[in-house]
Amino acid sequence: MVGRRSAPSVAYFLVTHALFFLLACRLSASQQARNYTFVHDARTAPEISYYDYIIVGGGTAGCPLAATLSQNATVLVLERGGSPYGDPNITYLANFGAPLADASPSSPSQRFISEDGVINARARVLGGGSCLNAGFYSRAEADYISGRDVGWNSELAKQSYEWVEKKVAFQPPMKQWQSAVRDGLIDAGVLPNNGFTYDHMYGTKVGGSIFDTAGHRHTAADLLDYANPDGLTVLLKATAHKVLFHTRGEWTGKARPTAHAVVFRDSTGAKHRAYLNSGAHNEIIISAGSLGSPQLLILSGVGPVDQLKAHNITVVLDQPMVGQLMSDNPMNAVFVPSPVPVEVSLIEVVGITHFGSYIEAASGANFGSFPDNDYGLFSPKVRTPQPTTQFYINLRQILTFIPKSSRSVSCRRSRQSRGRQRP
Ligand SMILES: Cc1cc2nc3c(=O)[nH]c(=O)nc-3n(C[C@H](O)[C@H](O)[C@H](O)COP(=O)(O)OP(=O)(O)OC[C@H]3O[C@@H](n4cnc5c(N)ncnc54)[C@H](O)[C@@H]3O)c2cc1C
Ligand SMILES: *[C@@H]1O[C@H](CO)[C@@H](O)[C@H](O)[C@H]1NC(C)=O
Ligand SMILES: *[C@@H]1O[C@H](CO)[C@@H](O)[C@H](O)[C@H]1NC(C)=O
Ligand SMILES: *[C@@H]1O[C@H](CO)[C@@H](O)[C@H](O)[C@H]1NC(C)=O
Ligand SMILES: *[C@@H]1O[C@H](CO)[C@@H](O)[C@H](O)[C@H]1NC(C)=O
Repeated sequence: MVGRRSAPSVAYFLVTHALFFLLACRLSASQQARNYTFVHDARTAPEISYYDYIIVGGGTAGCPLAATLSQNATVLVLERGGSPYGDPNITYLANFGAPLADASPSSPSQRFISEDGVINARARVLGGGSCLNAGFYSRAEADYISGRDVGWNSELAKQSYEWVEKKVAFQPPMKQWQSAVRDGLIDAGVLPNNGFTYDHMYGTKVGGSIFDTAGHRHTAADLLDYANPDGLTVLLKATAHKVLFHTRGEWTGKARPTAHAVVFRDSTGAKHRAYLNSGAHNEIIISAGSLGSPQLLILSGVGPVDQLKAHNITVVLDQPMVGQLMSDNPMNAVFVPSPVPVEVSLIEVVGITHFGSYIEAASGANFGSFPDNDYGLFSPKVRTPQPTTQFYINLRQILTFIPKSSRSVSCRRSRQSRGRQRP
């Protein structure tokens, strides 16, 4: 009897494990090279080609734009970086610090320091910042969408959010640390408790994450799933050097300069040119990031005339605001060493306050191990920018929420980390 009864349970055991195995295969397949037929290394590109739209920068904005435009037009995306697929530094939540620590020329992350000494990083990979960032996902406030700021069609914006969310947004797992952060924010009066929502609302909420519950990152490159493969060409390791303009109506009959081609180089340094097909709606779109976009405009002769002249760049258009007034949201970080291991989590909970600060927390990654590991903007450090002798604290660091009861501890900690200065 016992033997007979055990037979089905053995079978059951095998079935559950086979199912688990299939599931595991499916997940790992999605982590490996997504075999988009339209993605190629720029070395394979012809010297001259023609498209209806040319998008410079296959990042967070460029990928969804390319997917949409490819439905009814021919589209070229030029991305200076490589593919995110199959790179474990990008794919797994637990490796969040790795690309930021990787300062090699092939890293998907390019470190830089602002003029006022703030350490930061920008993306160099298909999918852009969504391959490096902390993955917090939110919709904009209703006022921002339909109000004076951007004035979009609310219904179209909602449909677009859903289009994005279907591929890359997830409800985060909310384990011990993030739950404690939520409870702490509520305890500290960041109210109401809005639960889980993609909407931007005052109070404490659990937001979306581009990491799924298994800790796998989903990036803007995944939105290329929506593309029409017959309409799209994505070139990797394709660095745009210059946008070419027709000026003074020589071709167009228009008074204003009109962009008509992009010069780019592949990884061997070979030059290629992509031209716009003739057509009233055809466009060159620059989505090369907040640094890359003005940089390319200036290299192409569109910018402050004195800067163009100083670099011997032929002036196409004196546009004094290009590259000016750049600013970013400052971040203040508090690092709290834990005597016991804490789960690895990035941003899942946020406190949106009426005094203009957003309070967020991450856990588990050993960012405090600087100087042994340098995570750039996420390493606690104080640096002395040249040539002044003032001290600057790195403000672009993750902000760790400190519960009320341990605030005095946190002050001590932050003074300790201030003491750890670099020469
Ligand atoms: C560490 C970090 C954490 C962050 N955390 C969050 C977060 O949790 N949630 C959130 O919403 N945002 C976060 N952000 C911000 C967010 O990632 C960026 O705002 C967003 O990715 C910007 O998108 P973009 O399309 O403007 O630029 P990018 O995504 O940077 O895309 C620009 C692309 O252009 C390419 N490029 C540049 N120059 C050229 C050229 N000359 N030729 C060809 N290609 C070129 C680049 O390689 C890049 O792929 C974070 C950012 C960082 C760095
Ligand atoms: C991707 O598809 C191409 C063309 O179908 C094929 O030659 C190549 O081997 C595939 N690569 C992978 C990693 O599956
Ligand atoms: C493509 O064309 C169809 C048919 O004209 C139209 O309904 C659709 O909105 C167009 N899509 C884009 C992205 O332009
Ligand atoms: C991952 O990052 C580490 C540094 O943080 C680097 O040494 C390693 O080469 C990277 N791996 C890949 C596949 O780029
Ligand atoms: C610009 O051109 C002049 C004259 O050829 C040269 O002296 C100068 O060094 C150039 N400046 C730059 C920034 O290349």
